[in-house]
Amino acid sequence: MITGASSGIGRVFAHRLAASGHDVLLVARDAARLDAECAALRAAHGVEATALIADLSDDADIARVADRLRSESRLTMLVSNAGFGTRGTIETADPAGQSRMLRLHVQATHELVHAALPGMLTRRNGTIIVVASVASWSPTAGNVNYNATKAYQRMYCEALAHELEETGVQVQALCPGFTYTEFHDRLGNGRKGIPGWAWLPADRVVDESLAQARARGPVVCVPGKRFKLIVFLLKYAPWMLGSLRQRYRRDRLKVTPE
Ligand SMILES: NC(=O)c1ccc[n+]([C@@H]2O[C@H](COP(=O)([O-])OP(=O)(O)OC[C@H]3O[C@@H](n4cnc5c(N)ncnc54)[C@H](OP(=O)(O)O)[C@@H]3O)[C@@H](O)[C@H]2O)c1
Repeated sequence: MITGASSGIGRVFAHRLAASGHDVLLVARDAARLDAECAALRAAHGVEATALIADLSDDADIARVADRLRSESRLTMLVSNAGFGTRGTIETADPAGQSRMLRLHVQATHELVHAALPGMLTRRNGTIIVVASVASWSPTAGNVNYNATKAYQRMYCEALAHELEETGVQVQALCPGFTYTEFHDRLGNGRKGIPGWAWLPADRVVDESLAQARARGPVVCVPGKRFKLIVFLLKYAPWMLGSLRQRYRRDRLKVTPE
């Protein structure tokens, strides 16, 4: 199962997994896009591809998708990827949008992992990938709940990995940096202020994640050497990235530089 499979990183996961012969269950809200993706995957790879239309910021839909996970005896992988960003400060951002983010990034992540685990543990086989972000290490004005929920997702995986030792089930926190998808388009001019060198293609992000999972590598996956360096600096010398973060901050808050 891949959530957020109608575009971006989730869509690439769906294509890669179908190309390697896996049947896939794709989750997102946009029925037309998801149906088209499923049809394309069936035609290209001869796999079973099923669309599950759900808004994972809605309690009833989260429960419905979780039930589907519990009843799926062939589940080998859950990619909890659906997510979005917002603009504005805690004071100015639409409160409903902030609540939706908390439900999608936190509640849905936990409930879907919780639903996937029993079967995987019984079969002693399974991979859970949660798509967090480099932003989980980088507190930024205008990004408060995004930073906080991505940090939750990363820490959730890091702690869960200890519980899953020697069970045959592995977990990965995939932490991409800026990636070419619809994420920033949905924010409206969301690429402004981010230097060109900072972007990675979504297929590169997914290929590193799957390679690291296949090798049973570390829990945290940060695709791209430049982002591995950025995470190192964010952890041990955050002051070195000050001017870059200031530019990003000004853009997110739409503040004109003095
Ligand atoms: N792009 C980046 O620079 C970047 C960097 C770091 C981390 N990430 C993370 O990567 C993940 C995937 O994002 P992306 O970059 O691939 O963006 P994207 O192209 O906008 O894809 C987001 C996906 O999530 C789905 N989605 C959004 N809200 C949903 C909801 N309430 N219920 C169900 N599905 C929902 C969207 O489909 P529908 O609209 O059809 O529902 C879409 O399939 C996110 O968790 C994001 O935080 C992205």
